[in-house]
Order: sequence, then C-alpha cells, then structure tokens
Amino acid sequence: MIAAYSATSQVRVNAALETLFTAPSPELARLYEAMRYSVMNGGKRVRPLLAYAACEALGGKAEQANGAACAVELIHAYSLVHDDLPAMDDDDLRRGQPTTHKKFDEACAILAGDGLQSLAFSALLDPRLSNADAETRLQMVSALAQAAGPAGMVGGQAIDLGSVGLKLDQKALEYMHRHKTGALIEVSVTLGALASGRAEKDELKSLQTYAQAIGLAFQVQDDILDVESDTETLGKRQGADIARDKPTYPSLLGLDAAKAYALELRDQALHALRPFDAAAEPLRDLARYIVERRH
Ligand code: IPE
Ligand code: IPE
Ligand code: MG
Ligand code: MG
Ligand code: MG
Repeated sequence: MIAAYSATSQVRVNAALETLFTAPSPELARLYEAMRYSVMNGGKRVRPLLAYAACEALGGKAEQANGAACAVELIHAYSLVHDDLPAMDDDDLRRGQPTTHKKFDEACAILAGDGLQSLAFSALLDPRLSNADAETRLQMVSALAQAAGPAGMVGGQAIDLGSVGLKLDQKALEYMHRHKTGALIEVSVTLGALASGRAEKDELKSLQTYAQAIGLAFQVQDDILDVESDTETLGKRQGADIARDKPTYPSLLGLDAAKAYALELRDQALHALRPFDAAAEPLRDLARYIVERRH
C-alpha cells in the first residue's frame, strides 16, 4: 500500500519539480544545473508524501498540494546541500552520488542551496502548482518561513553544530531534533492540510500532534540507521555521526531504547489520527514507514 502510494506521489512531485529548473539565460546554466542535481537525484520524498497525504486526509485532491509538496522538498534539498558542506557535516556522498559541493564546487553548492530556498517560496505562490486562495497562500508562506528559519530548521542545525563532542541530555537532544528535522516534517503536514482548503481548527491540531510525533521519530530513526545500516543502502556514509561524535538517540539511550522510543512516537502519531476516517490511511502508513524504513 505504502509502496504504491509512494510511487504515485513520487512521480507527481518529480513532474512538478522538474518544471522549476529551466535556466532563464545561458549564464545561469551551471547554477540551475547544480540546483537540479541537488533535487532530482532520488530521495524518498517523504515530506511531499506527507503533504499529499494530509491534503487527502481532509478530503482534498492530492494535486492541490503540488505547491506545498515542491516547497518542502526544495527546502529539504537546500538543507541537505548545506548540511553536507565541509563547514558543516563534511560529507561526500548523498543519495548514492557525490554531494553537490563535490560534483560542482563549494561556492556553487552554497548558492544552489540559497537558490533552492527561494524557489521553495516561489513554488507556494506558483499558480501552476496550486489553486489556493490568496489568504491560504499567505498562511502557507508564513508557516514555511517559521519552520525553515532560525526558529525552526536553521536553528536546529545551529544547535547540532554547536553540540559536536558534547553530551546532551534527552531534553536538549529532543529540542535539537524537533528543530533540525521535526519542524520541516511538521510543516509538510500543515501545508498539505491548508492546501486542501478544508482544514478546520481541531483537525489541524490533531494533524499537528501527529506530525510532531513522526517528525521526532524520523530523526530518531535516522540516528539509528547511522549505527546499524550500511553506506550502500543509505546512499550516505554510515557511521558518520559516530565518526564526528554527534549527540544522537542511540548514543544517549543505547540502540534498543532508541528503537523503543521510535515505536512509542509512532503510536502517539497513530493515536492522534483516531478522529480521522479511511482517508487518513496514507498518513497512518507513513507513520509506520518512518520507523520501519531501512534507508
Ligand atoms: C535525511 O532526510 C536528513 C534528515 C533530515 C534526517 P531523508 O532521509 O528524508 O533524505 P532523502 O530525502 O530521502 O535523501
Ligand atoms: C540533517 O540531519 C538535518 C538537516 C539537513 C536539516 P543529519 O545531518 O543527521 O542528516 P544526514 O544524516 O546527513 O542525512
Ligand atoms: Mg547534520
Ligand atoms: Mg548530515
Ligand atoms: Mg543523520
């Protein structure tokens, strides 16, 4: 079920994303090529899937969430390009291919990331990608700016980089993970819900509770996979967190307790979806997938 939903959604979001990388002039060909390389290189597209599934859970059509789906994937891709830079995690491999700064160069990777961030906001406003009214679009832009910015993902990355070699307690680790990864996962659900044009306050609140739980679970599982997966399956270097002495859930709690915590978060997420009918099944499947995935 999740495999079919995921395949259909990936085709949909990839087709929408593909329209965004046409260079306006030959001088910009390399920059656009670097942006395209950073986005169209595979990736599970979990955040777009969440946007589509949230839209559908409220009775909307998945296509209505194309702008939201592209926007969250563009922010995600930008965050990975910068995360892999020598000044940050200094990684050479991403999605099974050379990282953007290795394939191009560092300056180009920094600018490609900057460009992808701007494109994300353009995607929310692009009439080809959504039919949302002006007020809804404003709400979406505001929510994405909050989640991606210094009070969200960027803030989480700052904490991450400031924590290398430190031993964080569980509260501090959770705060970091909720920001660096949780914020963008949460807003993927929120933007998808808003794109449906049918989001009621109490439904949004339940979806937010769901999204907070899976947002944290996603990074807990990412930390677990860094310990127990392998480089080929991951498409990024296994053991990178340990090598860099990053505080992670397995390093704090041990592998078994980290796994148990991921499952507990999944159950919290499923519980939050109780008021929803069968239309929320893809969201339920995604909660299970996030803690069962092997890459
Ligand atoms: C990896 O995200 C970085 C984190 C925020 C943990 P994904 O696991 O979603 O990476 P892709 O998009 O599938 O490559
Ligand atoms: C990445 O966290 C979070 C963001 C990019 C915002 P990680 O540094 O753990 O991601 P990977 O493991 O390199 O994919
Ligand atoms: Mg990192
Ligand atoms: Mg990293
Ligand atoms: Mg990681």
